[in-house]
Amino acid sequence: MTILSNGHFWKYSEFLENKNYSFEKKNISNSLSKEDIDEAYLNISSWKGYSPTPLIELNKLSKELHLNKIFYKDESKRFDLKSFKALGGAYAVEKISKGNKEIVVATATAGNHGRSVAWGAKRLGLKCKIFISEFVTNARGKAMADLGADVIKVKGNYENSLIECIKQSTQNNWQIVQDVAWKDYMLVPKYTMAGYTVMMKEIVDQIEQDKISHVILQAGVGGMAGAMIAGIARYLENIPKIIVVEPESAACVLESIRTGKIEKIDIKRESLMGGMSCGEVSLVPWEILKNSVKYCISLPDDDIAKTMKLLGNASFSNDKIIAGENSAPGVICLITCCEDSKIKEKMELNKDSNILLIGCEGDTDQEMYQKLIKQ
Ligand SMILES: Cc1ncc(COP(=O)(O)O)c(C=O)c1O
Repeated sequence: MTILSNGHFWKYSEFLENKNYSFEKKNISNSLSKEDIDEAYLNISSWKGYSPTPLIELNKLSKELHLNKIFYKDESKRFDLKSFKALGGAYAVEKISKGNKEIVVATATAGNHGRSVAWGAKRLGLKCKIFISEFVTNARGKAMADLGADVIKVKGNYENSLIECIKQSTQNNWQIVQDVAWKDYMLVPKYTMAGYTVMMKEIVDQIEQDKISHVILQAGVGGMAGAMIAGIARYLENIPKIIVVEPESAACVLESIRTGKIEKIDIKRESLMGGMSCGEVSLVPWEILKNSVKYCISLPDDDIAKTMKLLGNASFSNDKIIAGENSAPGVICLITCCEDSKIKEKMELNKDSNILLIGCEGDTDQEMYQKLIKQ
């Protein structure tokens, strides 16, 4: 009996192949150029305390799934913030401040993006205002206050916190640093994505001669996925198969890929995968995702806690990995695809495959992490 087949059935909700698939490096670089990507790496790699996060082999899991290698980018070690988000918001703060110490930055956030903005403001000695909804845990709010930000709790959901952020920022002339793009607000989200591409630069340096055949990318508004694809177009010679994974309750990329245009989801129930519980794909990443994603998968929350536990007790690798709720879905997606023989064959997941997974966060909410791994 193996770790995976131990009476457990790994579930996915929906699988979709993109009928508009066509990976065009040139089109991708129109959204995020080589210059944007190179500038972000040059800047961020010079920050105090910078070092690449580990790329861990899930050697026990690859053996069970009969794959060649599985690489897991462990963002729990990203600066002190334990998430890839540290690369985005903080870089956008640096870019928009242009050395001006007088500006005030503001953002609305579910947690990790705001921490990055607060941390970026602290690095540069800027004042920072963070708007959170009533659903953001006190622990996440406190983490941002501890970085010196004024944290303002707003009644209602994320959208309400964003509306209040825009209102107060307009009244007070604060600079909004949002990771989500909308019409007329594209530059800052582009900077955040440029920051995320640092992960891909590190990965190509770490992977040496292995060729990545598949990349599984979690998506909320799609910023991280879009950035990684831009990094792939910039740094890799081959084109791996790109798979996007989302919560079943908020599969906004999947629904948009299905119809070929941005579709808004009415989220009825917040997923445990909190950072990925987003109802609408952001404009800048959409331009990248719409053609370059080959497959989309949505997942229920059922296997999140179990997967966090298995990563945490070294069932999949030689070392223990602290993986938060948003890190588990990449692993679950790979397991369910391998357990479904039709999908496995379609995706060409076999003994020659080298899969890249993004462990996008560690225990960013320690209380929640402890609760889940003890279930
Ligand atoms: C903590 C966290 N927030 C958010 C996201 C989603 O990122 P984006 O909204 O850029 O798609 C992820 C991963 O997908 C994540 O790990």
